[in-house]
Amino acid sequence: MRELFLTGATGRLGRTVQRNLNNSWIIHPCSLSGGDDLTKTEPRDIVPGKADFVLNCAAMSSRAGCMDNPYFAYRLNSLWPQKLAVFCAETHTRMVHISTDLVYSGGIPPYTERSPAVPRSLYGWTKLLGDIAVLNRNPRACVVRTSVLTGKAGAKMTTFSEDILSGRASSFHVDCFRNHTDINALARFLSKCLFSSMNGLVLAAAPYSMSRASYAYTLLKKDINLINGPSHIPHDLTLKPSVSIAEE
Ligand SMILES: NC(=O)c1ccc[n+]([C@@H]2O[C@H](COP(=O)([O-])OP(=O)(O)OC[C@H]3O[C@@H](n4cnc5c(N)ncnc54)[C@H](OP(=O)(O)O)[C@@H]3O)[C@@H](O)[C@H]2O)c1
Repeated sequence: MRELFLTGATGRLGRTVQRNLNNSWIIHPCSLSGGDDLTKTEPRDIVPGKADFVLNCAAMSSRAGCMDNPYFAYRLNSLWPQKLAVFCAETHTRMVHISTDLVYSGGIPPYTERSPAVPRSLYGWTKLLGDIAVLNRNPRACVVRTSVLTGKAGAKMTTFSEDILSGRASSFHVDCFRNHTDINALARFLSKCLFSSMNGLVLAAAPYSMSRASYAYTLLKKDINLINGPSHIPHDLTLKPSVSIAEE
């Protein structure tokens, strides 16, 4: 049996990963509500000795949350991945770390693994620092950057499509382009990625971008309220992913 230490296990991606892993895995879940605060712990005190795989999905994932508590966001999004990368390199543990298209500025798409990352938000900066630390401290680790997640996650925080279908989101940006990525298909890719030797930075997302408004219209098939995105949000984060995550 393979043993996986899964951080962010109660989050959107963590829950979806758990649903998509087959029963050849033993999962050691970790979350804040489960009593594990990664901003106050060291990997050697929390990663089970038998875990030969680590998937780091824990994050302060909201822009507002990072603005409200930058120190916490820095510790969880930047410092924790760095410590985990060092620990995994020393213990020869396979590590996959999740990141975001929001590390890019939105100015010169399409973005690839070779594009310079210049975030426009505190969230983006904390994630970029985490990515750089993982890539530098553990060359065998894989940093998977993806885009806005869609599909049924069943977590406390909701995905964009869950927001659209529940009516929580009611106005949609016509000028913000993202590679809306199916969370279940991404989780299936991650289970393969964990068991592969893929390393370094990998963009894994839906093959094409569309505006938030086009995505919402495709889902609802009825007139929607169109607005312009605010200036603090990068407008065109079109990725040219090397791993295409397509809904099956
Ligand atoms: N959601 C998206 O559209 C999206 C897009 C691109 C990239 N990503 C990236 O994908 C990854 C997963 O995001 P997500 O959407 O699944 O996030 P999420 O739904 O916000 O879940 C965050 C997870 O982190 C845990 N956590 C928060 N603070 C913690 C702490 N101090 N100690 C331990 N655990 C803590 C949470 O535990 P509790 O539930 O107990 O609080 C939860 O399990 C992140 O790296 C994110 O940057 C997400």
